Parts: sequence; structure tokens; C-alpha cells
Amino acid sequence: MRRKFIAGNWKMFNGPKASYDFMTKFVSLISSSKVITESISSSKLEVAIFAPAISLESCVRANVSSSVILGAENMYWEKQGAFTGEISAPMIKETGCTHVIIGHSERRHIFHETDSEVNKKVTAALAEGLTPVMCVGELLQDRENSKTFDVIATQVSEGIKGIDPLSVADNIIIAYEPVWAIGTGKTASSEDAEEVCASIRKLVAQLCGCACAEKIIILYGGSVKPENTASIMSQANIDGVLVGGASLKVDSFMSIIESSL
Ligand code: PGA
Repeated sequence: MRRKFIAGNWKMFNGPKASYDFMTKFVSLISSSKVITESISSSKLEVAIFAPAISLESCVRANVSSSVILGAENMYWEKQGAFTGEISAPMIKETGCTHVIIGHSERRHIFHETDSEVNKKVTAALAEGLTPVMCVGELLQDRENSKTFDVIATQVSEGIKGIDPLSVADNIIIAYEPVWAIGTGKTASSEDAEEVCASIRKLVAQLCGCACAEKIIILYGGSVKPENTASIMSQANIDGVLVGGASLKVDSFMSIIESSL
């Protein structure tokens, strides 16, 4: 049985103080929920927050029971150097965080990140012992032109190129986030999301072997809310959700976690 992975992606919201306040309340609510703490301690559930780099330390400080996984939203592939404005995997690790989102659609489309850059970042994150959550997703025009599966297959295979199959299965999480569903209120139907996530698992089986495909955690993201979580999570190939807007309020994110169980 694969574990469930429920993650919030704060994007460019929540500075250090707001992050600390959120995390303090969130960690206390998690600790007082028997079903959530039992699921976490029996390794059936992981709950994660991906926060702006400047807020990571305050998230770590507030995460007193360490019940929540913390991660960055992006990183550069070099360890250090003259790369003004960037942060590296060792820096993320130094804050106490363990995960990092790579290749989010906003990085790909606003900041023009390519598949080969995503691959360099995933490789560098793994080398530092961080778990990358590698995002893939098609544009609306790709979907309308029946290109969804080709686009996703290219993004996945280029993203994990050159990485040891065992490492792919154990240390990478893939998030399928159709670009047209992010922040738009339009969710892919659970069946459409399942179809793409199943195709990703099939591709991982071809590239890395069936055992790896059985193990790898695949998430759906794009307008996930408390009301649609249970239906998305009921799909065979969807192991978790990556939540943007609805993760910014403690109560709605808690409802999403509860609905996923
Ligand atoms: P959304 O964002 O839930 O606000 O659509 C999801 C994401 O970008 O990860």
C-alpha cells in the first residue's frame, strides 16, 4: 500500500511571520487529531507544506512535533556560486527541510524553465538527499489538440532522465497538475486526472520497471478543495494532492487532509 501525501504549495504567499502563525496553529490541530497522528505515525500518511524560501526557517521553528514535512518551492542546481537570487539544495537542507518542488507550471510558464533544467534540478536535489516533487502538466491547448499524453510523457521522461530507477521510485514524487486547472477553479474530473496519473505510472513501469511504478507516489494538483478531495483520492493511481489556494487557510487545508483519509 502506497502512503498518502497531502501537500500545500503556498506559492508567493506567507512571509516569515504569517508562516510561523499558520504552522503553530496547524501543528497543534494535527497533533490533536487522533486519526491524522495515527496515520502519520503508521507511515500511511505524509502531510507537507512547501513555503517561500524566506519563510522556511520560521516554518521549521514552529513545527515543534516535526509532524509536518517541510519543503521549498524551487531551487537552483548548483550548490553555490554567483547566481544572484537563487537558493541551492544544501541551503534548503540546512534549514531542516527535506523536500523541494521542481518544475511547477508557474516556473515552467512564467520563468520559462525547460525540461532539461527540471532534470538538472531533480538530479541536484537527489544528490543532496532532498525529495523532489516534480510537477508535470499540459496546457489547455495541448488537451484540446489531444496532445496531453505526449506532453506528459515528454516531461516525465526528460525530468527523470539519467536517474537510477530505484531512486526514482523511492525518492521522487510526481505531481500531475494540468495548467488549465491551476488557480482557475476548474478541476480536472477525477476520471481525467486518474487517466493521466495511470499513464504516468505506466510510463514509469516502462522506464524503470514495474516494481518502481508500483512504489512511486503520484499526486494530482489543480483547484483541489475540501469538496473534491475524497473523489480525487478515491482513484487508484492518485496517491495524494498538491494544493495551492486552499492550503492558505488552516481550516480548509485541515479539511482536505481529513477528507483524504
Ligand atoms: P491551486 O494550485 O490549488 O490553487 O489550483 C495548485 C498548485 O499550483 O500546486
